Amino acid sequence: MCGIVGYIGHREAYPIVIKGLQRLEYRGYDSAGIALYDGNNIKLSKTKGKVSDLKERLENEIATDGTLGIGHTRWATHGVPNDVNSHPHYSNSGDLVIIHNGIIENYDSLKKELIKRGYTFKSDTDTEVLVNLIEDVKKNENIKLGKAVQVALNQVIGAYAIAVFDKNKPNEIVVAKLGSPLAIGIGEDEFFIASDASPFIEFTKNAIYLEDEEMAIIRRNKDIKVRKIKGDAIVDPYIQELQLNLEQIEKGGYDHFMLKEIHEQPDAIFDTFRGRLLSNEAMVKLAGVEDNMKKFLAADRIIVVACGTSWHAGLVSEYIFEDLARIPVEVEYASEFRYRNPVITEKDVVIAISQSGETADTLAAIKLAKSKGAFVFGVCNVVGSSIARETDAGAYTHAGPEIGVASTKAFTTQITVLTLMALRLARAKGTISSSEFRHHLIELETIPSKVEKALKSDAYVQTVADIYKDATNFLYLGRGFNFPVALEGALKLKEISYIHAEGYPAAEMKHGPIALIDEQMPVVVIATKKGHYEKVVSNIQEIKSRKGKIIGIVTEGDKSVKELADHVIEVPETIECLTPLLTTIPLQLLSYHIAVMLDKNVDQPRNLAKSVTVE
Ligand code: AGP
Ligand code: GLU
Repeated sequence: MCGIVGYIGHREAYPIVIKGLQRLEYRGYDSAGIALYDGNNIKLSKTKGKVSDLKERLENEIATDGTLGIGHTRWATHGVPNDVNSHPHYSNSGDLVIIHNGIIENYDSLKKELIKRGYTFKSDTDTEVLVNLIEDVKKNENIKLGKAVQVALNQVIGAYAIAVFDKNKPNEIVVAKLGSPLAIGIGEDEFFIASDASPFIEFTKNAIYLEDEEMAIIRRNKDIKVRKIKGDAIVDPYIQELQLNLEQIEKGGYDHFMLKEIHEQPDAIFDTFRGRLLSNEAMVKLAGVEDNMKKFLAADRIIVVACGTSWHAGLVSEYIFEDLARIPVEVEYASEFRYRNPVITEKDVVIAISQSGETADTLAAIKLAKSKGAFVFGVCNVVGSSIARETDAGAYTHAGPEIGVASTKAFTTQITVLTLMALRLARAKGTISSSEFRHHLIELETIPSKVEKALKSDAYVQTVADIYKDATNFLYLGRGFNFPVALEGALKLKEISYIHAEGYPAAEMKHGPIALIDEQMPVVVIATKKGHYEKVVSNIQEIKSRKGKIIGIVTEGDKSVKELADHVIEVPETIECLTPLLTTIPLQLLSYHIAVMLDKNVDQPRNLAKSVTVE
């Protein structure tokens, strides 16, 4: 995910593009770049870092005049964040320049073809492949830029919102969209392009949101031609009047980044398995695992190191790896592991999980494991982060930037990657039959739409939040795959509402925590149909006998828990190992709404930081 901006009209493009990029920085901020056309030449500048770094550099580097410009704020997917990988990217001739948000999944095979035809590449990005593919098509077929973009995109698999122009035809910008957002603002003899409407809201309220598989040719002082990418159909675009103010747009209409990120989970999980989960071919493709299969297969055990929410995702993975791939797993707090003189051998595989990729304790645990000869695999969200660089191999979660300090989509996407890994290893080890394997893939594919459905409980969760917002303690209980979800639910509530909460394995309650239960104590119990259901129902009986207030997280259509609990929140049915991806949703919403009702700073809770870079 990244932000793209463009302008063509009668004003200076630079201030519009740079300000627009700043407004889109929530979409990614590891590098930024801009290309302006000054009437004779393209002026291009790009840098690792934030848009403010680009601004500083531009003020010293190039004149910023020109009435056509495009800009990009990057969230790297292919190639570490550095100056060269930053967008915009030139084609080999230097005629075309492109910005891109998304992933070209078949970039590798396209790149090999282009190399055979003499093309060279400066960056590691998939985007540079696309701009050269467009150039190649344009030259070979001797066609205009718009047509060349169309032909090239028909060869592409993946997701994109792009803007491209040709320095020899500087009165035209071509844009296209599939999977990533693209809005076109329509002013008086001027057009704006952006990932959302925030960069142009003060200039025009009229906008076209391109649909997937649509492209547009935008010409200075003329109109916009929108067409389908496949076939020849011309589209009559719907111009809508924007009602939003700036603040709303940056958070996509949500009040907080946390809520936005909770609602992004269907897309984020999809992006995590996009191109990796191939249910038709009954395959899981994860390059980092494939390339190191020998190490994984020879491993005596897997040691997971992580902190906080990432540690909870690690705990879920313990259940998944052991169940599917029959590999013993130990899950360690990185901060304990690093100081414990742990027994680590060359036959251990260590998986380090971190959203930010910068957590100091996790980084130190990785270094320790490497020094003892273990193979270390990273599961990170931020591309090119310290942990991503320090590990021997890895798999990114591709969740997009997570801004809210309370981790939400990072958790579910980490579980998604770890599940893919477990499935791939299970297949390689023969611990899962081909029909079970295929069944798991098909189920995983349905998770985004099931998360969407689970999110529909929002209004009801809000009424539950209102009833319990003044409680001073909460208990969260779960068993099996959902025990770590209970821990995660409690952590979410603690960190943003400052209410004391504890998570326990449901059966462990009898060994102490049950003493806390009285009529004041809300107990959130995860009691899905798959997974020790009867046992959990007995635990609920025990709470009820002591007058605790029960909030049950249940499978759609559940009857038994409904009879016992004070409130039930339903989630769709799925196979047991995937239930955490659904049961965690109402818990995120519950903590969010309680924190909002208590007027807490949801996105930046006190005493916390998004990445903990100190030990
Ligand atoms: C989660 O809501 C917390 N903000 C925190 O526990 C976080 O998960 C932890 O600091 C680890 O961060 P990382 O995933 O970036 O390594
Ligand atoms: N795949 C492109 C890159 O890594 C674009 C990423 C994005 O959408 O930010 O540069």
